[in-house]
Amino acid sequence: MQNDSIKKTIFVAVALCLVCSFFVSLAAVSLDEIQKENKRLDMIKNILVAGGLYDPSVDVQAVYENKVVPLLIQLDTGQILNPEDYPEGIRVGTYEIKKMAVDPAFGRPVDPGEDIANIRNRPQYIFVYQVMEGDKLQRVILPIYGYGLWSTLYGFVSLGNDLKSIRGIAFYEHGETPGLGGEVDNARWKALWPGKRAFDDAGNVVLSVIKGQVDPKSAKAQYQVDGLSGATITTRGVHNMINYWLGEEGYGPFLKTLKQGGGRG
Ligand SMILES: Cc1cc2nc3c(=O)[nH]c(=O)nc-3n(C[C@H](O)[C@H](O)[C@H](O)COP(=O)(O)O)c2cc1C
Repeated sequence: MQNDSIKKTIFVAVALCLVCSFFVSLAAVSLDEIQKENKRLDMIKNILVAGGLYDPSVDVQAVYENKVVPLLIQLDTGQILNPEDYPEGIRVGTYEIKKMAVDPAFGRPVDPGEDIANIRNRPQYIFVYQVMEGDKLQRVILPIYGYGLWSTLYGFVSLGNDLKSIRGIAFYEHGETPGLGGEVDNARWKALWPGKRAFDDAGNVVLSVIKGQVDPKSAKAQYQVDGLSGATITTRGVHNMINYWLGEEGYGPFLKTLKQGGGRG
């Protein structure tokens, strides 16, 4: 076969494609486990960030194991399950909120009238995370998700032991635009959250992520967080998801259980 013949050109092109696809598939298969493990560690890191426990110089897995206690709760009732009562197929290491929300056995649709976070489906069981000091609750870290502009944002928000003030927020997955809605990952923006009051004295959610900057002199400043500039729609999404998940339709029943002393160490 001559070097410039059509047959040889096609043969070389096909052979090159086959060799390349073999190596790409090999890389995808062999890196799959590593990617899953990195995803798990990133999720743990964000649990710690939201809980105000993240220290980049310390191994995240070790901090998580020492300080964080996962609890499976039933969202509708706020009831905490004992590990021996966990439904078949639900384990902390393999639990995926996205899959659970749409699972015919473990998820349920959200009534459109109540769906302010635009999530459509939610899991019936969800893992929340307690941080204990001895037998005293220090903070509780709660998974949250809701729609922004381009995507559903998945993250965590944590409350202090008064169950009224925010300790932190962090997102581990979203598809918002870097530099606009993607600024939800900006450490300076996340630093605005700790200490904000989520509830008023009557227990209503009052936290508001506003358009623009909070006036520090305003009496409402303790209930408000600056919005993301140029990203009003993502800002509204974060506002809505906080209000949904901390409200009666979200973790309201579970927070009641905790207030009645029903947590576990
Ligand atoms: C390419 C592109 C990407 C954008 N990404 C986002 C985004 O991730 N989140 C968001 O809220 N707005 C985003 N916007 C802007 C929205 O379309 C809208 O203008 C904005 O939310 C209004 O916010 P503002 O009132 O603060 O300007 C994007 C706009 C463009 C052109």
